[in-house]
Amino acid sequence: MRVSVQNRGNVDTISPCLPAEADTGLLSTADFARLRRFAKQQIGLNLHDGKRHLADARVSKELRRLGLGSVREYFEQLEQDASGDLLSGLVDSLTTNYTSFFREPEHFQFLEATVLPMAAQWQECRIWCAASSTGEEPYSILAAWHGHEVSKRTRLKLLASDISTRVLSTAQQGVYPEDRFSPEALQRMRPILLKGRRSADGLYRVRPELRQQVEFRRLNLMHPFPFGSEFLCVFCRNAMIYFDRPTQGEVVAKLSRCLLPGGYLFVGHSESLGDLVGDLEYVRPAVYRKRGVPLANARAND
Ligand SMILES: C[S@@+](CC[C@H](N)C(=O)[O-])C[C@H]1O[C@@H](n2cnc3c(N)ncnc32)[C@H](O)[C@@H]1O
Repeated sequence: MRVSVQNRGNVDTISPCLPAEADTGLLSTADFARLRRFAKQQIGLNLHDGKRHLADARVSKELRRLGLGSVREYFEQLEQDASGDLLSGLVDSLTTNYTSFFREPEHFQFLEATVLPMAAQWQECRIWCAASSTGEEPYSILAAWHGHEVSKRTRLKLLASDISTRVLSTAQQGVYPEDRFSPEALQRMRPILLKGRRSADGLYRVRPELRQQVEFRRLNLMHPFPFGSEFLCVFCRNAMIYFDRPTQGEVVAKLSRCLLPGGYLFVGHSESLGDLVGDLEYVRPAVYRKRGVPLANARAND
């Protein structure tokens, strides 16, 4: 079984090297169909036929991790799992959590030059990172915020969410080995980091008093969002790449409802929205703006 996992710049792709075949692996055709239905409904994941070998290998690994003896047992537990832990494990095994500090740097340039100044008159500004993975993306936003004038006047409330409990726990700790940073990223992140000493040598920790500005929360993009129109911007980058087009459209519409008028949605550079924009307008590659008059001073005296 050969599976190649490639990361070409911004594009996370998982390419099966063998064509889909009938019942040769762990998952029978019926099992794969059941997994496909489940993944689509619960996670939004589009498991097309080309992913059958990948799914086979990853479900085998999950079975070993959970100490389960059969695929049937696995499905039963998965479908009854109220904690969401098995679902989280399935997402981790079928998608990549790849991320990095200041990934897709043009977004951060745009954030600093155009978006953050909008919040300078407000007492509070809310930003949501809707597929935050292990935290590099929300902490990059935090670093951009604290390097900007706006941080002297306005309070930031940053929400970081993901479906995976494993990545959220790493994000919440906010501790990263030095090799997680490119030299440029380390330079930009350094003001919000503490450098480890002695047993923590080679590690950096996000300053606890700043980390408190980030709320970590488990949220599934497939579920209704418990928010009104309240975020100045939403980052939802490199997660919708796994969804089929109709699911992407539904998620974009829900995210758009959470934006303030004039607020911005950032998606991954390989996730062009095309005709899915709805009440958003295209601003530049992978950046969309919610139509309506920006609430320039609306929150000034909240
Ligand atoms: C490739 S990472 C992207 C991380 C970051 N946004 C970036 O661009 O660097 C994709 C993340 O999406 C999360 N994800 C996948 N499906 C999801 C869903 N239905 N709801 C919420 N998060 C999901 C995964 O757990 C993973 O952490």
